[in-house]
Amino acid sequence: MKNKIVAGNWKMNKTFPEAEELLVAIAEGLDDMPLETDVVICPPFPYLEMAADVSEESNFSVGAQNVSDEKAGAFTGEISAAMIKSAGADFCIVGHSERRAYFKETDEVLAKKVKRLLEEDIIPIFCIGEQLAEREANQHFQVVEKQLTAGLFHLDAKEFERVVIAYEPVWAIGTGRTASPQQAQEMHAFIRGLIEAKYGTEKAYNAYILYGGSCNSKNALELFSCQDVDGGLIGGASLKVEDFIEIINAAETCIKND
Ligand code: PGA
Repeated sequence: MKNKIVAGNWKMNKTFPEAEELLVAIAEGLDDMPLETDVVICPPFPYLEMAADVSEESNFSVGAQNVSDEKAGAFTGEISAAMIKSAGADFCIVGHSERRAYFKETDEVLAKKVKRLLEEDIIPIFCIGEQLAEREANQHFQVVEKQLTAGLFHLDAKEFERVVIAYEPVWAIGTGRTASPQQAQEMHAFIRGLIEAKYGTEKAYNAYILYGGSCNSKNALELFSCQDVDGGLIGGASLKVEDFIEIINAAETCIKND
């Protein structure tokens, strides 16, 4: 039986006191749950240490949302993998479509970021996904294959084992337009097939492939029930305690039914 992972991507939301309040409320919500799901919360950088403190009394892990591709030095405003680790984060989102689009992050830079994170023993949550125009032009498999191979397939098998993948169709992010379970399953199976061809059957089976994009408390169970969907990367709904807990409950239900 394989666990699920539910990760919350808070993006650029919440002030410090609001973030603390939300984290404490989530921790309280998780308290009553004998969790088999791995829950990861990714708040903005300034709250990592506080989140890590709250997590010590709870059963979630902490992740960052981005990292520098440089190790250290004269890179004003950047945050290194070592800094993230020392603040208490064990995960980090890399290559989110917002970073690819608004901050022009290339496959090459993202591949470097993944390496930096692994050097510091941080698990990258590596995001891939096509734009609407690409899906409409029937190029979605091609786009996802390119992002996956360019961003991750430079890793050796041992390194690859420590990476989580998130398939997030860009047209579904923050739009309320979720991929159907069939669309999600089809792409997840395709991704797993590529991993199998590169790293073999066992690594492909063990790989975590999360779905992201308007995943919420209403559709999580159906999405997570798909054979190749190993959990979710949740944006908007991770900022609402009840919704986030319900999504985690959906993951728990899937693990129990497996
Ligand atoms: P959403 O965002 O759940 O608000 O669509 C997901 C994400 O961007 O990771």
